Amino acid sequence: MSIKHTENSKPKNIAVLISGSGSNLQAIIDACESGQINGRISVVISNRPDVFGLERAANSGINTHVIDHKQFDSREAFDAELIKHIDATAADLVVLAGFMRILSGEFTQHYQGKLLNIHPSLLPAYKGTQTHQRALDDGTTVHGVSVHFVSPELDGGPVIMQARIPVHDDDTADSLAKRVLSREHVIYPQVVEWFCADRLSLDNNVIRLDQQVLHEPVIL
Ligand code: GAR
Repeated sequence: MSIKHTENSKPKNIAVLISGSGSNLQAIIDACESGQINGRISVVISNRPDVFGLERAANSGINTHVIDHKQFDSREAFDAELIKHIDATAADLVVLAGFMRILSGEFTQHYQGKLLNIHPSLLPAYKGTQTHQRALDDGTTVHGVSVHFVSPELDGGPVIMQARIPVHDDDTADSLAKRVLSREHVIYPQVVEWFCADRLSLDNNVIRLDQQVLHEPVIL
């Protein structure tokens, strides 16, 4: 893969939040290691102990923290602890990679313009959970995945990039999830690459890519 960093800007510090297997985390680790992304993951935080994503991070020598949401009395208290650990790394970018907690408005505002999420649907369709099954139940013929800047609204926020896949007659939620996931591993590193090369920004809810206003998501 050809590697282009626009200008010799300083590598960005990336914090990644996970709740599970961490295959998107792995795709971003690989893209940092190959030089595709001009950045380094300074911390991986999981709200669940013993998830495979923590092992992936440790295997690459990345600092990890478990901040178990069950140990906190309120969402705000949990989010405040997250912020403390993320800010201790001076993160330039916070990447939600299969992080399955709803974040408070305080958290999303704190990281406005530098908080990304990946969601397994063609947003604004199928916000929330069970996206693949809901797409099948509706007889949808095209499904996919979106990477977006996070706003206080759940799975809201301006969409940067999407990958579309056709839904086959014999698809199940599992087969769809698998095909969508393989697209996730392409588009998430791509968007993180743009951000870390200072090519992508969000200002007043307007996305700019290479200085041009992005009116529609980039489609893979
Ligand atoms: C991915 O499919 C991601 O899109 C989804 O969780 C999975 C995590 O997989 N995220 C959401 O549903 C967020 N609402 P991973 O742990 O292997 O990266």
